[in-house]
Amino acid sequence: MKHFLDIADWSSADLWDMLNIARVLKEQYKTKGANKPLLKGKALGMIFQKPSLRTRVSFEMAMQHVGGHALYLSPQEIGLGKRESIADVARVLGSYVHIIMARTFEHEHVLELAQWSPVPVINGLTDYNHPCQAMADMLTIYEEFGRLEGLHLAYVGDSNNVATSLMMAAAQFGMQMTIGSPPGYQPKEEVIEKAFRLSRGRLSVGVTSDPVAAVQNADVVYTDTWTSMGQEEEAERRRQVFPPYQVNAELLKHAAPHAIVMHCLPAHRGEEITDEVADGPQSRLFPQAENRLHAQKGILVYLLEDAGQLTKKSRQRFEKIVQVIRGQE
Ligand code: CP
Ligand code: NVA
Repeated sequence: MKHFLDIADWSSADLWDMLNIARVLKEQYKTKGANKPLLKGKALGMIFQKPSLRTRVSFEMAMQHVGGHALYLSPQEIGLGKRESIADVARVLGSYVHIIMARTFEHEHVLELAQWSPVPVINGLTDYNHPCQAMADMLTIYEEFGRLEGLHLAYVGDSNNVATSLMMAAAQFGMQMTIGSPPGYQPKEEVIEKAFRLSRGRLSVGVTSDPVAAVQNADVVYTDTWTSMGQEEEAERRRQVFPPYQVNAELLKHAAPHAIVMHCLPAHRGEEITDEVADGPQSRLFPQAENRLHAQKGILVYLLEDAGQLTKKSRQRFEKIVQVIRGQE
C-alpha cells in the first residue's frame, strides 16, 4: 500500500502511468459521457481542515464517475488532533473507507494520518505542498504542448505549497523551472535541493527577484495567491510586497508568444492576476481547474488498483488498467 503525499515519493514512471490513466478516463468520459465503474463499492473519506471548492467537488465527482462514493468530513466534525488524536482518526476512518484524502494546515498531520491509516492517504493540500494540483497541472500542460520534457515553467509570486509541488513535478517530468519571488518569499534551499536531487541533476531551477527575468521565454506562466489559507494576518504586509509580481499583460509580453497562463485558483483578481489575463486568450485557468477531476481519477484508480479488479504486476499495470477501463467498448 502506498500513499500519495508528495510528488517526490513516486517514480516518474508511476506518475506517467497516473497521468495516462487520467487521460484515458477523461477521453472515455468526454466521448461516452460516463466511465466504467472501476471503483464500485469503494468509499473515499475526505478530511478538510481548510475550505475548498475544487478539491472537494472534483474528488467527490471523480468517485461518483467511477462507481464509488465520497464522504465530506468538515473541520468541526472530526476535530483532527483535538476531539480525537490523529492516530485514532486514521485507524477508525480507515476501517470504514477504502481510501482517505486529507487537507490540513501542518504537513506533519497528513504524514501522521498516513503512518496510522490502514488504507492509502492522499494529500489534498498542506501548508507545505499540493501534489494533486501539480498532477492536474501536468495534465493541462501536456494537453497543450503534447509533451512535458524540456518545457520552461515560470512561477511568479509567493513560493508556497503550490510552487513546491510544481518544482517536484518539474523535476520528475524533465521541465525547467524559474521562480520569480520577492526576497523573503523565495523557496527554501532544502526544497530546491530536494527537487534537484529528484531530477538526478537534470532540473535547472532559477530563482530571481526579477519577475521579468523569471518569465523570459517561458512556455507556461503560473501564479497563485499572495496570501495562502492560514496566513490571513499577513495579508496586508503581503499586499505591499507583491504588486510587482502581478501577472498582467505587460509581464506576459516577456514570455514566449505561445505561452499559456495558469493559476490553481481561487484567484484574487486585481492582485496576483488581472482580469485581462485571467480571461484572455492565453489563460488555461478553467481547463486546468477541470483537470483536477480527471487527474484525481488517475490517482484514485492507481492507488486502489489492487483493491478491485485490477492486477498489480509492475509495468504491465498500466496496460492492464487501460484494458479494464476500455473493457468491451
Ligand atoms: N486549487 C484548489 O485546491 O482549490 P480549492 O482550494 O478550492 O480546493
Ligand atoms: N496557496 C493556496 C492554494 C489554494 C488552493 C493556499 O494554500 O491557500
